[in-house]
Amino acid sequence: MRIVGTGRAHPAKIVPNSEFEKFLDTNDEWIRERTGITERRVISSEQLEELAAEASVKAIEDAGLTAKDIDYIICSNVVNEYITPSLSCLIQGAIGASCAAVDVNAACSGFIYALDMADDRIKSGKAKNVLVVAAEEPTRMVDWSDRSMCVLFGDGAGAVVVAEGDGEYHSRLTTTCKVDCLHYVRRLEPTPHITKDEPSGPMYMNGKEVFKTAVLSSSRDIKQLLDESGLKPSDIKYYVLHQANLRIVEAIANWLKLDMSHFPCNVNYCGNTSSASVPLLLDELARSGKLKRGDKILMSAFGAGFTTGACIVEWVK
Ligand code: COA
Repeated sequence: MRIVGTGRAHPAKIVPNSEFEKFLDTNDEWIRERTGITERRVISSEQLEELAAEASVKAIEDAGLTAKDIDYIICSNVVNEYITPSLSCLIQGAIGASCAAVDVNAACSGFIYALDMADDRIKSGKAKNVLVVAAEEPTRMVDWSDRSMCVLFGDGAGAVVVAEGDGEYHSRLTTTCKVDCLHYVRRLEPTPHITKDEPSGPMYMNGKEVFKTAVLSSSRDIKQLLDESGLKPSDIKYYVLHQANLRIVEAIANWLKLDMSHFPCNVNYCGNTSSASVPLLLDELARSGKLKRGDKILMSAFGAGFTTGACIVEWVK
């Protein structure tokens, strides 16, 4: 497969670190030093499906196609206001497509899982043009009175269109059930028959544990993919890594013995946008002319589960 179009959409509201100082015992210096974040884009009046549709339309236009040319939609999403219908279904309606649409929830790794499904769909001959969207609003999952959580996240949507191609593609996906480390549980509607305890509350995360697991798992995935494809770390033009914390990206760069010029970042002004972070960054690179035909890009992400996803894609647009 090859990526033939990219797009992104950010919410209008920008929340700088200084905003948190007004209602929490925190400060700009702590947030910047520990995470690399200076501001984040946060949903206010927008619906997530509007951002997802905006990113999708941009990706389809960039591919030189129309919504009618799309024959499968995969959307990576953890939460949005609808439990059903799926977000991919809402996107289908909003952009005027008529193909089948399905959601994937692999937490922050979801975009890479969705891209891999798109590759399968194309390889099997079941689709020609697949729209892969990642749209997330993690700011709605966290407790905004908990300084260790709410400063970390931002919202947004990124999209790509994938079509048949002969560029290089290698992928690796892993899932290890580790619920204690990171979870978000919502109570369902009560019934007269429920006798069990049902916890409910904002997202829980053991930050230190996730940090260590993220660095180790991403480094392992990257090494495996490089070995498998016979590439050296420096053969990769850009490592488009999940943007959870600048220190995680720096630790991986350090481990690969590469300078940060190979590691574009958007966490400083987007925060952690969950599975949207990789396609948001990819679109930024593509639209700023930084990607040239033949460049090799390595995308890698980790998230709740614990899930990881990584792939090497050759830019043949
Ligand atoms: N402002 C000021 N102080 C804060 C703070 C804030 N916003 N948040 C936490 N602190 C305090 C803590 O209370 C703690 O204080 P104490 O030592 O008095 O108990 C201290 O800062 C250190 O906290 P700690 O949690 O040890 O910080 P850390 O260096 O591990 O950084 C994270 C915390 C969350 C930034 C970091 O662990 C991280 O990024 N983890 C990975 C998260 C991630 O990737 N999540 C996404 C998964 S997809």
